Amino acid sequence: MKCVPLTAKDIDAVLALEERVQAYPWTRGNFVDALAAGYDGWVARESDTVIGFAVLMRAVDEIHLLVIGIAPELQRAGRGRALLDFATRQAREAGMTRMLLEVRPSNAAAIAFYRQAGFVEIGRRRGYYPASAGREDAIVMAREL
Ligand SMILES: CC(C)(COP(=O)(O)OP(=O)(O)OC[C@H]1O[C@@H](n2cnc3c(N)ncnc32)[C@H](O)[C@@H]1OP(=O)(O)O)[C@@H](O)C(=O)NCCC(=O)NCCS
Repeated sequence: MKCVPLTAKDIDAVLALEERVQAYPWTRGNFVDALAAGYDGWVARESDTVIGFAVLMRAVDEIHLLVIGIAPELQRAGRGRALLDFATRQAREAGMTRMLLEVRPSNAAAIAFYRQAGFVEIGRRRGYYPASAGREDAIVMAREL
């Protein structure tokens, strides 16, 4: 697996992956805006196929992990961790001191994934996400870099 910057030509592949892994996926516009705003975007490739992606936003010395996904058929084999480790190294090199993220309380896999990577819960945001029955809270997690 190779991690490289996300560029405009990857958006179709990333959008297709995002739509497979998220019930409320980012739209094409969200990815286009993120690139235009200069956010850090990464894609993970295997034999030239995009199998994962992550988008992060810097704010002074903190970096916010906005989205991360690995192709469903390739999950649970260390790729997500490798991509997160890559993004973490890049963030450290850019002088970031803390990584933050929001996750749905119902997303047990992601919570386990983040805990295993050293993130701890630091708070909740009420009604942050759309959900089938109204809104769902977000768990806010953080990790020092
Ligand atoms: C979260 C996600 C990126 C993890 O990617 P992955 O490649 O499956 O993760 P890894 O194989 O690197 O997992 C590393 C560790 O995290 C934990 N973990 C990952 N998935 C888990 C699951 N489904 N259940 C429990 N623990 C899990 C485990 O400790 C795992 O180590 P182990 O397999 O040796 O036990 C992937 O599940 C995904 O794309 N999910 C859908 C999108 C999403 O929810 N993104 C996060 C919110 S934006």
